[in-house]
Amino acid sequence: MKLKSTLWIFVTVLTLSVAQNDRFMASRQQFALELFKNTQSTSNMLISPLSIDFVLHLMFLGSTKSTTTEMKNGLGYPKSFNAKAIELNLQKWSADIKMINGVEVATKIYVNNTLAIKNSYKLSIRKTLSSDLEKIAFIKSKPATKKINKWISDSTHNLIKNMIAPGVIDKDTLMILINCIYFGGKWADPFIPNANLFENFTAIDESVKTIEFMYQSSVLNFSKDVPELKGASAVSLNYDNTTVSMLFVLPPADVDFKSWMSSINKINWSAVDKSMKPVEVRLRIPKFNITFDDDMKKFLKKMQINSIFENEAHLDKIFAGQKAKVENLFHKTIIQVDEVGTVAVGVAVMKIVSYSMPFNPPEFTANRPFIFFIRSGPTIMFVGQYVE
Ligand SMILES: *[C@@H]1O[C@H](CO)[C@@H](O)[C@H](O)[C@H]1NC(C)=O
Ligand SMILES: *[C@@H]1O[C@H](CO)[C@@H](O)[C@H](O)[C@H]1NC(C)=O
Ligand SMILES: *[C@@H]1O[C@H](CO)[C@@H](O)[C@H](O)[C@H]1NC(C)=O
Ligand SMILES: *[C@@H]1O[C@H](CO)[C@@H](O)[C@H](O)[C@H]1NC(C)=O
Ligand SMILES: *[C@@H]1O[C@H](CO)[C@@H](O)[C@H](O)[C@H]1NC(C)=O
Ligand SMILES: *[C@@H]1O[C@H](CO)[C@@H](O)[C@H](O)[C@H]1NC(C)=O
Repeated sequence: MKLKSTLWIFVTVLTLSVAQNDRFMASRQQFALELFKNTQSTSNMLISPLSIDFVLHLMFLGSTKSTTTEMKNGLGYPKSFNAKAIELNLQKWSADIKMINGVEVATKIYVNNTLAIKNSYKLSIRKTLSSDLEKIAFIKSKPATKKINKWISDSTHNLIKNMIAPGVIDKDTLMILINCIYFGGKWADPFIPNANLFENFTAIDESVKTIEFMYQSSVLNFSKDVPELKGASAVSLNYDNTTVSMLFVLPPADVDFKSWMSSINKINWSAVDKSMKPVEVRLRIPKFNITFDDDMKKFLKKMQINSIFENEAHLDKIFAGQKAKVENLFHKTIIQVDEVGTVAVGVAVMKIVSYSMPFNPPEFTANRPFIFFIRSGPTIMFVGQYVE
């Protein structure tokens, strides 16, 4: 009798956590889509939602009070999720990603050398995101920048070399949180280099340019007019010796890209996968590279993630007494797609500053008519205007 009831409890708990993990993953997919939608412009772009997600979770794990509530919401978690559930699922997710062939993820926090970080936070980030913490003297800006940039360069196969610009690390810097993701894969079915052709590509502004397309004819998972993707066609290309694949989604020809994109608010990925069937496809995709580099702060604010950037940020699980907030979330990515395969890298760098000395340098740009005085004490020696 006793054994039976013990077993029953065990099974219940296990079932619950599988369902919870599905909801966790659904929330991460939704976050990725939201972030992409909020980052869109009329240029080629590439973000790594995973990289952004990881550094934001480093903040989430250190947050309390209204900052926790706001981030939980901004990160797209259901109300029923508590911090413990998020931590456990994050740990599993991070461990699962480590197992994927061809993918390398590295997370690290640099901390100003005199700053005390709570032990519970150190343990929490090591457990969930395998993130280490290293002390560094930010007061020596140049060597600190050099050291961190070297770590980033080493973690991205030298593809991202000078991530942190000179001057970013300054006297107010408390912490630099970094996530790097690298993927390198060869197509399971490579393209035939001498089948490349120059063809026209109609850009988002309707202009037409001639670019290099790659060609192959293979059995690929494909679907035309996927309802889940508002009528787009989709084709999936596998990489050799890994579970990673690349999905190309092409909106219907007669629909404006921007309105199509804004109609995609949620994607049921299992429905997309289910709709795709292996068929022989004559595939033409551009041979392309994209690089992207921006501060994600403005986009995250659009997603109601505000408080970590403000003076009321509650990060009391990280610091004892120190007032701190996020100043920037720099994001840089590169992708190279060619006949052989793909290389993609992403880096997210979050800069945490002390706000005990709030200093927002005011701006003065004399880009319109102005007047001027040359004076000494009360004596005005010259006065003039500059208007043309
Ligand atoms: C960082 O540490 C240095 C000592 O190495 C200290 O002088 C400085 O005030 C600290 N910076 C902040 C923002 O706390
Ligand atoms: C590409 O577009 C140009 C200009 O619109 C046109 O002259 C040319 O014939 C097109 N080429 C092909 C292969 O369609
Ligand atoms: C197509 O997708 C199914 C299910 O995801 C997978 O089992 C199969 O290997 C894929 N086929 C090809 C040709 O990629
Ligand atoms: C596939 O990847 C594993 C792990 O990286 C490696 O040990 C193995 O040799 C690879 N197999 C092939 C056929 O490349
Ligand atoms: C997603 O699609 C699958 C397969 O079509 C379906 O079984 C499932 O109920 C859908 N999930 C949601 C949340 O709509
Ligand atoms: C992409 O970048 C690689 C490496 O810099 C370069 O060799 C290649 O020519 C580029 N491809 C395109 C389409 O610009």
